[in-house]
Amino acid sequence: MMKQSLIASLALQLTVAVAELLPVQIRAPTPLHFRDIVANDTYDFGCRAQARPTDDGQFELRALLTRDQIDYLTEEYRSVDVISIRESVVKRATTAPIGSGDRFKSGTVTPVGLGTQTSGSTIASIMNVAEISSAVNALVANAGAISFTLPYKTFNGATQFAFQIGAGSDTSKYHLYLSAGVHARERGGPDNVVYWAADLLAANKSGSGLTYGKKTYTNAQVQTVLNAGIVIFPLVNPDGVTYDQSSSSLWRKNRNTKSGSSGSSIGVDINRNFDFLWNFSKYFSSSASPASSSPSSETFYGTAAASESETKNHVSIYDKFPKIRWFMDVHSAAGDILYSWGDDDNQATTSTMNFLNSAYDGKRGITGDTTYKEYIPSTDATNIKKVADATVAAMKAVGSRSYVSQQSVGLYPTSGASDDYAFSRFWAKSGANKVYAYTMEFGYSTNFYPTLTEFNQNILDTNAGFMDWALAAIGVGLE
Ligand SMILES: *[C@@H]1O[C@H](CO)[C@@H](O)[C@H](O)[C@H]1NC(C)=O
Ligand SMILES: *[C@@H]1O[C@H](CO)[C@@H](O)[C@H](O)[C@H]1NC(C)=O
Ligand SMILES: *[C@@H]1O[C@H](CO)[C@@H](O)[C@H](O)[C@H]1NC(C)=O
Ligand SMILES: [Zn+2]
Repeated sequence: MMKQSLIASLALQLTVAVAELLPVQIRAPTPLHFRDIVANDTYDFGCRAQARPTDDGQFELRALLTRDQIDYLTEEYRSVDVISIRESVVKRATTAPIGSGDRFKSGTVTPVGLGTQTSGSTIASIMNVAEISSAVNALVANAGAISFTLPYKTFNGATQFAFQIGAGSDTSKYHLYLSAGVHARERGGPDNVVYWAADLLAANKSGSGLTYGKKTYTNAQVQTVLNAGIVIFPLVNPDGVTYDQSSSSLWRKNRNTKSGSSGSSIGVDINRNFDFLWNFSKYFSSSASPASSSPSSETFYGTAAASESETKNHVSIYDKFPKIRWFMDVHSAAGDILYSWGDDDNQATTSTMNFLNSAYDGKRGITGDTTYKEYIPSTDATNIKKVADATVAAMKAVGSRSYVSQQSVGLYPTSGASDDYAFSRFWAKSGANKVYAYTMEFGYSTNFYPTLTEFNQNILDTNAGFMDWALAAIGVGLE
């Protein structure tokens, strides 16, 4: 009796805390029409706000909104004919299940990726949090990966780990870094990187190549990629993922209660918490909204730059592996590869107009103007785009769908993001290596919980993307 009422009250708390989020498409003739909407930090625009051109010459902004928010916006823009707000009517199949139990049997059963299985094979469920570490432990026990514990425990006390493959124990031989699972709801991110690592190690061991849909790689390419040395931080946000997998509430942030202890006020957006123009109200124009200082926002930036354990652990990997040269943060859901910068448009002509120059404080973050654009040397701009394009080409070549590459600022800026932080280190931190950085957004727009078919397709697409990203990066240079 006691137990039942406890369960009932927990269930009630859950429904009170988590209003249902509905996918919405907002259309307008120009991205400028969305500026007020995007500036409202009570709305959820998925991983990053993006205005995409449509076939009929308009722009579309995707969002996840509550019923109340949809009603409010509909009323607000009733008299503005050019802005339309529509709920997505797509009926979706059941989403992929989360694994129950431990398919890797406490780190004894090695994960087998799709690239080393016969065409048409599938993986039956998304890994639960325990399975992600069990999978990595199995790669360590049976396939030659080396794992290590990261220095900071999460708010809920989880010990964080990452692993290295391909270049043995010498940490100066590692040049590629991938992370996943930053945003809790972006299901399948950790699976994509862990199964790819499993594929590389298995193909190397058996002397074979890899096949992802219509895209194939030779054993020589597998060896080339492994020799570059790969560091993988597969689950950046275990507290958030644990909560999301148990509540299916489309949870994004971590679970830190320092700034708020109930409902949406819990948690920090790890991908706005990095030490790059973090204090956005100082560095950006007041009309830009690259993050939020409101704890209840999906883009809450935290209490200080790198205030969160997950952020600190992420950064510690650059210190442990000082020769990391290329970084990829794996997110969803949009279908694109984003490359630096994310705070404003790029420019290659005025080196003094850069994120470190306080003369531009209060001016950053308005795209399409000339007041401020972020400096990127032209060689870097060429290199970084070349590798993004190669990644996209491989993902398309798998044969199921289209992807695009674009500068990460798109039309709306971000502050404190992992990719900008990675690239900024070279200028901000004496002696730091230059890191070309990317964000991959696999999956379909705002579709964070893939169907089983989509989950498997995402593995094929991302893994081919990782292969060509690595090969193109090696082509440009690892030193
Ligand atoms: C943001 O939207 C909510 C309704 O969803 C509205 O009540 C609020 O006033 C808006 N905030 C701003 C700053 O416009
Ligand atoms: C790849 O295979 C070769 C030959 O079996 C082996 O010597 C090497 O250690 C393997 N590399 C990795 C990263 O497992
Ligand atoms: C951000 O910068 C402003 C202006 O310099 C300053 O007043 C404010 O205290 C800073 N905020 C934080 C959280 O450091
Ligand atoms: Zn994301």
